[in-house]
Amino acid sequence: MVPIDGGVDLVRQLREARPDVAFIAMHGRDGEDGTVQELLEILDIPYTGSGVLACVRSMDKVLAKHLMIEAGIPTPEFFAFNETAFRELGAAEALGAIEERLDFPIVVKPSSQGSALGIKFASSAADVPAALVAAFSYDSKVLLERHVDGRDLAVSILAGDPLPVVEAVPQGDEFYDFQARYEIGRTAFVCPAELPDGATERAQELALQTYRLLGCHAFGRVDLMLDAAGELTVLEANPIPGLTETSLLPQAAEAAGISFDGLVGRILDLALRRAPA
Ligand SMILES: Nc1ncnc2c1ncn2[C@@H]1O[C@H](COP(=O)(O)OP(=O)(O)O)[C@@H](O)[C@H]1O
Ligand SMILES: [Mg+2]
Repeated sequence: MVPIDGGVDLVRQLREARPDVAFIAMHGRDGEDGTVQELLEILDIPYTGSGVLACVRSMDKVLAKHLMIEAGIPTPEFFAFNETAFRELGAAEALGAIEERLDFPIVVKPSSQGSALGIKFASSAADVPAALVAAFSYDSKVLLERHVDGRDLAVSILAGDPLPVVEAVPQGDEFYDFQARYEIGRTAFVCPAELPDGATERAQELALQTYRLLGCHAFGRVDLMLDAAGELTVLEANPIPGLTETSLLPQAAEAAGISFDGLVGRILDLALRRAPA
């Protein structure tokens, strides 16, 4: 095994090491948006997880949500714009109409980020401009999304099978502070989540549909919301979810009786099996 850090000499290092398979341990941006996958394709090195197209579709929340709507998968209503629309087409003038359609609070997020970076809840029209500026600092495309008052669920998929549902339960403050989300102790994770009758199966089915729709391979994680009326909506899919021992996919695997080492083994095995002989 050779550990390789992503950097300007990534291609050179990969050519030198010529591994049988690359275990992509990058989470977010370049690791998850298809860039590294594209390089590995060019170098003809088998790699773990989803291919380029699934990464491209998933990493772009706006694209993924349009595909979900087309496929009949429920996702919160939204409007999306790029910077050009604001700078050159006067999109700001349309904010009032959008706010009316979505009601407050409105969730403002960059189209392609992860780990809740750049996501803000705007509780009134006065909050929207700053939330947009924050989101635009992460991506040139942002979405304004209907807020779902509900429970935060994640369904990981391994080898085409949904794993037990994980619920993220914020601790303390009633208004969720995203920056605190990943700080130890600020969020409790419950797995398997204790949900009303049938919700687990429906969440798993929706997650699997989303995973297949986006063309994910081997593993992935789909984030959903469950509202008070029992309705489920899909927020997004992560082709390379966190894979540290305390991350959600490993936790869900553990709950299904799959150890961390076992999980890593399965992921490698799936990568080698996909590779051309
Ligand atoms: N429309 C929404 N309504 C309520 N909460 C949301 C909404 N969108 C995002 N959130 C909250 O923000 C978290 C992160 O959002 P998500 O869309 O999964 O982006 P990412 O995980 O890529 O940062 C969610 O797990 C949820 O807690
Ligand atoms: Mg998420």
